[in-house]
Amino acid sequence: MTAQEARKLGFNVIVLDPVKDCPASMVANQIIGSVNDPEKLHILNKNSNIITYEIEQIDTHILKQNVDVEKVFPQIEILEIIQDKFRQKNFFNKKGIPVPFFKEINTIDEIKEHIPVVQKVRFGGYDGRGVIVIKDEKDLEKAVDKPSYIEELIDIEKELAVMVVRDSHGNIKTYPVVEMVFNPEGNLLDYLISPSDLEEKYIKEAKEVAKSAVDALDGVGVFGVELFLDKKGRILLNEIAPRPHNSGHYTIESCETSQFEQHVRIAANLPLGSTYQMIPAVTINLLGESGYKGNPVYEGLENVMKIDGVYVHIYGKKNTFPLRKMGHVTVIDKDKNKAIEKAKFVKQNLKVKGDEKI
Ligand SMILES: Nc1ncnc2c1ncn2[C@@H]1O[C@H](COP(=O)(O)OP(=O)(O)OP(=O)(O)O)[C@@H](O)[C@H]1O
Ligand SMILES: [Mg+2]
Repeated sequence: MTAQEARKLGFNVIVLDPVKDCPASMVANQIIGSVNDPEKLHILNKNSNIITYEIEQIDTHILKQNVDVEKVFPQIEILEIIQDKFRQKNFFNKKGIPVPFFKEINTIDEIKEHIPVVQKVRFGGYDGRGVIVIKDEKDLEKAVDKPSYIEELIDIEKELAVMVVRDSHGNIKTYPVVEMVFNPEGNLLDYLISPSDLEEKYIKEAKEVAKSAVDALDGVGVFGVELFLDKKGRILLNEIAPRPHNSGHYTIESCETSQFEQHVRIAANLPLGSTYQMIPAVTINLLGESGYKGNPVYEGLENVMKIDGVYVHIYGKKNTFPLRKMGHVTVIDKDKNKAIEKAKFVKQNLKVKGDEKI
């Protein structure tokens, strides 16, 4: 989606991706290879003026050795802070950003005295993998023996996200606050709703915290800032993604400038665009149905696409498997409740199956 926006502004894009004919290859020239392949990075560097990334799992030592570091944004140091969730928490805590109480642990045994608590794996977690909620001693068997830390179990009122864009001159803008609605079973994200209808004081505070966090990083780029509002009324920073983010997909149809266009503008040293939201939006993720793999088959497109304000995005991944993120749908409507209703319909009627049953 970033490459599409880059093309729109007349830039050429090269994408480094290990999967032949990856989605971005439809709009960019592809180098087939791993982001940690020195030789491929070298080729990418030689042929690019600016380098950015959309995945946090990158070996920064290899990266630094094989590309001109000043070409890379967000800065590699930021990637290093964010890759280690414990380091990230420490960083923001020291900068005075409100975060849940957290503590380093060296052995699983240390968890016991802090129950109820959340264990978080320091490296490599995503989509909730690496986050272990330990509510009682029985849950201790779920604890993992990997470098990790513990965090207070937050009594969550709402999970929020704020997209923040910041350019190399330090100009910064926030998008409206997004509310994430989770499916109680399986900790899966159901909907992203924007704008949030929380009280104005929370909206202001959420934006303020998000902005301060990105400023503290001296971040250049697009940042997805995940926050909690807890039952005590505290706004706390959960974590930051240094890239266009799922919580910012709604900006494509609903805001004056999409998160992806902002990414390109920042890359090209062009002015930041307006983050004004023109119409409420609800986004759902299109995940691979359980029970299927292989060539994706999209069921229900007809039924959902005839509804006004429904925008389907299919990423063009060649293979589906259970819970794989295959695309997303954004629904816009002047009436937010109608957008939610339509999104529920889309969720029930649009399915990504595969040509192989498992
Ligand atoms: N301290 C906490 N207290 C209560 N719940 C938490 C806490 N930390 C995380 N969670 C829950 O676990 C989810 C995933 O946590 P987190 O965002 O840290 O992990 P992740 O693996 O990076 O997930 P993702 O890739 O989906 O953002 C959160 O969205 C939240 O629902
Ligand atoms: Mg998260």
